[in-house]
Amino acid sequence: MRTSDDFAHLPADVRPIASMDVEARIAHIRTERWVQHDSVSRLLRELQDIFDQAPRERMENLLLLGASGMGKTMLIRKFERENAVAFDQKNGIQQKPVLVVLMPPQPTETEFFHRVLETVGAPTFQYWSNSTHLRSTAIALLRKIGTRVLVIDEINSILVGTPRQQRLFLQLLRFLSNDLRMALVGVGVPEARHALLSDSQLRSRFNDVELSLWTPGAELREFITRLVWSLPLRRPSPIDTVKFRANLVRQSGGITLGICKAIARAAIASILTGQERIEPSSFDDPEIWRGIATGNRAALSKPAAH
Ligand SMILES: Nc1ncnc2c1ncn2[C@@H]1O[C@H](COP(=O)(O)OP(=O)(O)OP(=O)(O)O)[C@@H](O)[C@H]1O
Ligand SMILES: [Mg+2]
Repeated sequence: MRTSDDFAHLPADVRPIASMDVEARIAHIRTERWVQHDSVSRLLRELQDIFDQAPRERMENLLLLGASGMGKTMLIRKFERENAVAFDQKNGIQQKPVLVVLMPPQPTETEFFHRVLETVGAPTFQYWSNSTHLRSTAIALLRKIGTRVLVIDEINSILVGTPRQQRLFLQLLRFLSNDLRMALVGVGVPEARHALLSDSQLRSRFNDVELSLWTPGAELREFITRLVWSLPLRRPSPIDTVKFRANLVRQSGGITLGICKAIARAAIASILTGQERIEPSSFDDPEIWRGIATGNRAALSKPAAH
């Protein structure tokens, strides 16, 4: 019979999960969970400052940049949850103080406003032929649901448009920010910066912040510690070493996605073998790194040039 002293290496809320059977524990590991760390805490504070500013003509906007897989979308979803409000029963409205919209594949106003309507679950079909009606409906809706910060994820997709489409889309952003007095948060890979460069007025209203690649320092130590705490392994994992962190950074290219995937795979393997803990040597298995492609790893595996 296990007591509550079992699994003392785990936080109290994870201990009961560690008692579960293999399938349940593997399912838990595979479920996406938010793990807070210093860089995201800092960025959440910056995002909150954007949220808290009073509506005015010159709104401060933010451009959140980071390599693919660094955790930008997870971060803005967390920001959205932190500012979510309960369903307004009286008026039958779900207010959305933070609205996250994914950039459409074509950067046009019509596609963008369709995305806005789709995101809030409003019908869209009747507007295909009338873009003025679409614009006014989307704007009325944004006001009705009380959107203070409009987050546009994958804003780098602006760059796939023709020069004319790009110009018009930047004009649209300027309109949303100036006339609607809504703060904008653009999210994308570092190239997204180029998307805004051509509009100097817009450019000066976006502050860049970045989710940088991991290095083997104290922040990564904290992140890995919290990540491993969330895993229901029955024994403590001896991985708190600089050497292990340096290896993880090298193998993953410093990308959060690769680090999370490799640690989850090592954890699942250790449950299946009965080892019940992850060790630095678990990461020597190429299977752990399968499909986790990074520039660094590609460079490492390239045959040496003569
Ligand atoms: N704070 C976090 N806590 C736990 N897991 C995280 C965190 N941040 C990132 N991850 C992991 O990294 C994966 C990639 O994150 P996300 O999709 O947010 O990246 P992204 O920066 O938006 O990438 P892309 O530019 O390709 O859209 C997540 O699915 C998750 O497994
Ligand atoms: Mg993303």
